Amino acid sequence: MEAPVQVEGLTMAYGRKLIQRDLSFEIRRGEVLAIMGGSGCGKSTLLRHLIGLQVPAAGSVRYGGEDIHSEDAAVQARLRRRFGVMFQAGALWSSMSVGENVMLPMELFGDHRDAAERARLARGKLELVGLGEHFDAEPAALSGGMKKRAAIARALALDPELIYLDEPSAGLDPLTSARLDDLIKHLRDDLGRTVVMVSHELASIFAVADRALFLDAQSKTMIALDSPQRLLEQGPEPVREFLRRGEKA
Ligand SMILES: Nc1ncnc2c1ncn2[C@@H]1O[C@H](COP(=O)(O)OP(=O)(O)O)[C@@H](O)[C@H]1O
Ligand SMILES: [Mg+2]
Repeated sequence: MEAPVQVEGLTMAYGRKLIQRDLSFEIRRGEVLAIMGGSGCGKSTLLRHLIGLQVPAAGSVRYGGEDIHSEDAAVQARLRRRFGVMFQAGALWSSMSVGENVMLPMELFGDHRDAAERARLARGKLELVGLGEHFDAEPAALSGGMKKRAAIARALALDPELIYLDEPSAGLDPLTSARLDDLIKHLRDDLGRTVVMVSHELASIFAVADRALFLDAQSKTMIALDSPQRLLEQGPEPVREFLRRGEKA
């Protein structure tokens, strides 16, 4: 079966500032792929390239053979419906209720014209993330972990096959973070979704990631892609060091 996403020779830069070069990998259907690496190595930048928000300096990102950076608006619109995103600062709109936040992508990009139907679907997404009771709540009333889960519900609004999460468990306490890991496993194991998760939370990486991609800040390219356990045992030294941080703490 063809991988949903193929990245080939991707080089990313801001003007003349090279961030990462020559990244080639695929995202496999039904996996949780972690993108890891030190702060500032280019993880969020990679995510923005994967979803077509930033244009590569070189190389390509393809969804089932179609270029996410195509200038054809119809291709863009079609591809963009295949994934949902939770950005690093995955803020909810504070002027809308939690439910309205989840309905927003449906209003903007969805097929359901009927408001009652959109509300019913949004409620379903909130139930999925354990927030069924909070449809009418104001985002400000939610805890940090609940906000993240609401943002994930919003990312799921259009039933994407692929979900991108940028640092979902950053800033959460271990228990809340573990609940989020369970949600990610549920998305993969029970709902058959593919999840790409930027993370430097080791517990989370080991708990949920099938494979992990390491972006090296020094050489400015990927130096490893394998299961976290294998990387810990036999990955390149900078990766093992990254994965061993927890033991020292
Ligand atoms: N809009 C931008 N313009 C110029 N440089 C940027 C911009 N956004 C991020 N950078 C720089 O690119 C590098 C990678 O950033 P980022 O992808 O956010 O890293 P990470 O998510 O791995 O912490 C950093 O050095 C950051 O300062
Ligand atoms: Mg980042």
